[in-house]
Amino acid sequence: MIELFPRPRIVIETLGPDEADALADIHADAFARSWSAEEFEALASDARVLTLGLRRHSVIWPPRLIGFILIRVAAGEAEVLSIAIRGANRGRGHGRRLMDEALRHLYRERVETCFLEVAHDNRAALSLYESLGFKTVGERKGYYHRNDGPAGAALVMRLKLR
Ligand SMILES: CC(C)(COP(=O)(O)OP(=O)(O)OC[C@H]1O[C@@H](n2cnc3c(N)ncnc32)[C@H](O)[C@@H]1OP(=O)(O)O)[C@@H](O)C(=O)NCCC(=O)NCCS
Repeated sequence: MIELFPRPRIVIETLGPDEADALADIHADAFARSWSAEEFEALASDARVLTLGLRRHSVIWPPRLIGFILIRVAAGEAEVLSIAIRGANRGRGHGRRLMDEALRHLYRERVETCFLEVAHDNRAALSLYESLGFKTVGERKGYYHRNDGPAGAALVMRLKLR
């Protein structure tokens, strides 16, 4: 059967500072405390920060950035600074694809350990990280700003890559 509208193609690519507005837009949709386009411009210009984006290409709409991950790498250690998928696109495997690609990159770069922080009640993110082998190694109380209540605790998680 001929497909009238072929499935959108999803491409993971390295992003530069020219994508700062789109990165800030996705971040603002995902987090209570948003980061400005200027902050993203600085991060995406930093050679120590791996900035990967996930872009959807369809035959109908112009290509659209629907997610990103930013990871800072220094002295054999990496820290996930942020990861987000646009709301309507969550739960379709995109977050896992971004994490897989980023971890492959870190492994190739001979990074030994990857850290991240996650709100203790962020079930989707926790489940993703645990399934990739991240273990909780610490907790920071009152760390996560919320619009609707007191700041929540963050878990510090670690993955040993080598
Ligand atoms: C966390 C986030 C990046 C995950 O991306 P996603 O594309 O929605 O996740 P995926 O569809 O790739 O799912 C990956 C895993 O996450 C978990 N997961 C995803 N959605 C979930 C949900 N609603 N409830 C519980 N677990 C969930 C599952 O373990 C899933 O694995 P599985 O599909 O093999 O069961 C995304 O939900 C998001 O952008 N959230 C808002 C921003 C955020 O919280 N970022 C993380 C900050 S630390």
